Amino acid sequence: MENKETDGKDVKYYRLSEVEERNSFKSTWIIINNKVYDVTKFLEEHPGGEEVLREQAGGDATESFEDVGHSTDAREMASSMVIGELHPCVEKPEMFLLMPLLLCISLRMTGTSLPNQQIQRPYRKAQAGGQTG
Ligand code: HEM
Repeated sequence: MENKETDGKDVKYYRLSEVEERNSFKSTWIIINNKVYDVTKFLEEHPGGEEVLREQAGGDATESFEDVGHSTDAREMASSMVIGELHPCVEKPEMFLLMPLLLCISLRMTGTSLPNQQIQRPYRKAQAGGQTG
């Protein structure tokens, strides 16, 4: 059977934060090998028990899933629960906003001045001197 999620078309991408929110009985999602699985209806049917899936709810279960050595049947079963993939860009965007601030702080702390500051200072002095004298 063709799987819409894995043939490269119509793939729904989820951010890690979206998956993390789905960690209740009402909605349980897990990540295995960058794919997002909705296991809500499978919790009670899981041969390995509901608890192991609940522990992984909202997070990356790849390691635990692989450690168990699930059968081919289990993997096929899992593929029917794929709802999408983890967004390729999962890093925190706020880090990029913080970078310039951190750079400024570290330059101040080390007493390093930027090249344009070195150029501007004597120019201002010369201008001020010219006006008064
Ligand atoms: C969509 C995801 C999953 C599906 C469809 C699934 C399915 C199955 C199936 C069919 C079995 C029976 C044994 C086999 O055929 O391999 C099984 C056993 C088991 N599963 Fe899962 N599983 C899933 C996720 C997980 C995860 C994330 C964990 C770990 C946190 C886990 C832990 C176990 C354990 C401990 C057993 C019992 C193994 C044993 O008794 O030898 N499973 N699972």
